[in-house]
Amino acid sequence: MKIHIVNGPNLNLLGRRNPEHYGKLSYPELMNEVKKYAQKKGLAVNCFQSNHEGEIIDDIHTNLDKCDGLIINPGALTHYSYALRDALEILEIPIVEVHLSNIHARESFRNVSVISPVSTGTICGLGMRGYFLALDFFLSLS
Ligand code: DQA
Repeated sequence: MKIHIVNGPNLNLLGRRNPEHYGKLSYPELMNEVKKYAQKKGLAVNCFQSNHEGEIIDDIHTNLDKCDGLIINPGALTHYSYALRDALEILEIPIVEVHLSNIHARESFRNVSVISPVSTGTICGLGMRGYFLALDFFLSLS
């Protein structure tokens, strides 16, 4: 099973960015932990991060038929990107939306996700474990 992981704007600065919300691990450290977890469980993962909405949409188009599941943390695009929402709607594979922080317990603009309606499910507020749980979900489908 191949899982594609997409992380959006500013997640490359994890570790330095609001560690009280996003934890102390850097982005490479976080993805390394996620890859190790996936490997242990026999899943192949591919990770992509970009600060640019269009690049993320292009990446989703490129991976349309290349993976069995998508994990996406869209960063702030979560709250307003109809273009990303529309791109995700085209996918025929399960999509898990992951947020490190609990977006419902923060500023009101973060309480809305335009991505959730086109996602199979959403995990938020569980830090790095959210990515692990999303991988477990895909495993449970196999
Ligand atoms: C985030 C939450 C978003 O509101 C924020 O803009 C992010 C990270 C999270 O992982 O908790 O960049 O998606």
